[in-house]
Amino acid sequence: MRKNDPIVSTKRCVITVGLEIGGRKPAAELLEAAGIEWTHRYGAPHWEDEATRAALEGVDAILAGAENFNAATLEGATSLKVIARNGVGYDKVNLAECTDRGIVVTYTPGVMADAVADLTFGLLLAAVRHVSTGDRWIKSGDYDVPIGEDLPSMTLGLLGCGRIGAETVRRAKGFKMRVLVHDPFVDATSLAEIGAEAVDRDTLLAEADAISLHMPMSADNANIVNAGFLAAMKKGSYLINTARGGLVDEPALIKALQSGQLAGAGLDCQASEPPVGVSADLVALDNVVATPHSGSLTITARIRMAEMAARCILDVLEGRVPEQVVNRDVLEKLDLS
Ligand code: DGY
Repeated sequence: MRKNDPIVSTKRCVITVGLEIGGRKPAAELLEAAGIEWTHRYGAPHWEDEATRAALEGVDAILAGAENFNAATLEGATSLKVIARNGVGYDKVNLAECTDRGIVVTYTPGVMADAVADLTFGLLLAAVRHVSTGDRWIKSGDYDVPIGEDLPSMTLGLLGCGRIGAETVRRAKGFKMRVLVHDPFVDATSLAEIGAEAVDRDTLLAEADAISLHMPMSADNANIVNAGFLAAMKKGSYLINTARGGLVDEPALIKALQSGQLAGAGLDCQASEPPVGVSADLVALDNVVATPHSGSLTITARIRMAEMAARCILDVLEGRVPEQVVNRDVLEKLDLS
């Protein structure tokens, strides 16, 4: 800096999710063009909270993965103005704590619905048609032919039906399935418009040949798929989870899969990621097909998510209110327009 240059405080952002996508760095490009300094470090699932705490010191923004944001990790985050989650779940973010500290929390709804719904269907097909089992057998020279079922002969049940759920329904209709939805927040008419029937929870459990979870993780929903839920599902049915591992009581699911109460499960998320302990035992079962929380991991989705999150950061740092604010009550404390 020259002697009489004005002192301009450069804004800083740390990015903790994949930076390069399809040969581009979409978030970094947008931040850089706006004069924001960025650094990149991979965060969760490998980071301990202490690493998150350290990364937040001296930055104005974080383009965040699945790190924990709570009183401890935010302790030294005195300059932090925005946590832009690269995703739709904010179960790892203590919203009240962020609001108290005047930190805006944003997310990326809509742009990843196709990617997650695709993987939901990938897991459903893989479980019902035993894709991993067949692959294992053929590679080991153990040439046998596992029998599956036609999707059009099956009823799919969705617990929760937001944007990702709606895309899943559309795919299921393309596969000529009957689709039942239990979601107290969505009206029957809009479900009928996409070809799904609104039902109560008991009907969903009794009639669905496969149940797919599309609800957020919250204190109320923890372990919602418990022993009672699994016992009420149709014998020989399937569970698909592309939402959150914490929705499922994993020891109970292991029992249901071992007893034959459930024929199989397709799981993109586990209670502990990477899976250890019970989660590791669960993904090791032969009738489980598991993926490493990769629902939104497509080039198209990730570019759109990174751009949306980066724009949220620019909005806050440049004094505007982003559309995708989660903790709207924080806005009362801030001078954004
Ligand atoms: C989400 O949207 O929260 C996904 O889990 C990806 O982070």
